Amino acid sequence: MIRLDKLLAHGGLGSRSSVKKLLRSGAVTVNGKCVFDSSMRVDESKDAVAADGKKIEIRKEVYLMMHKPSGYVCAKRDGLHQTVFDLLGDAYRTPFFEDNLHTIGRLDCDTEGLLILTTDGELTHRITSPKSECGKTYFVRLSNKVRSGEAADYVCKCAQGVHIGPEGREKEADCKSACLVWLGSGDEKDECTLTIYEGKFHEVKRIFSALGNEVVYLKRIAIGALRLDESLEKGEWRELSEDEIELLYRI
Ligand code: URA
Repeated sequence: MIRLDKLLAHGGLGSRSSVKKLLRSGAVTVNGKCVFDSSMRVDESKDAVAADGKKIEIRKEVYLMMHKPSGYVCAKRDGLHQTVFDLLGDAYRTPFFEDNLHTIGRLDCDTEGLLILTTDGELTHRITSPKSECGKTYFVRLSNKVRSGEAADYVCKCAQGVHIGPEGREKEADCKSACLVWLGSGDEKDECTLTIYEGKFHEVKRIFSALGNEVVYLKRIAIGALRLDESLEKGEWRELSEDEIELLYRI
């Protein structure tokens, strides 16, 4: 069930105040009957809502995959930086989306890659809850090259769980086991993927800092089994397919 004014706003009929005016004018019907009460609750899957005789089509939940570029923050508003919501089209600037659309977890301003935006709070809970241990995989480039002996040491330490230092208001902490895979064939390596199963603040950067290195480039490439669609340019986004939504729900 959803408030009628919210539903009309979601249906693209403008802000809640313009929707109220529309209701007052007698243009809105629910199941064929004229309705004036904006707080009336309607069942979006059953009730037929129309404005000026035109049926309002309601989209229930929205799931978007974005290739987040560096320089954008994962917040609704930010005094300093542009936000990932600024990258979305006008269709997502209705009160419904402004109230409900959110990112599943956050990426740092300088982190790129896979970001999911959705109105589906249940999915967000499943993916971000520490209990679900959903893997998030990052491509990592480090400032210092690592020789083979030390590289093996990094893998073991990540598997055992790295103790990370404090940062800002965040206390030091023990990370859960993470999976590091080195990339490239040379003797000295500076690129790897790291899969983490929780979402501590700046977790990837703090893990490598605790190992005596520094992350110079970070890109999320997968959440669970869902990989970033590399055909999306940085800053582009698209809707998830039904199969992709199912992949996320299987986490
Ligand atoms: N870990 C980080 O350090 N930064 C991110 O953006 C995501 C994970």
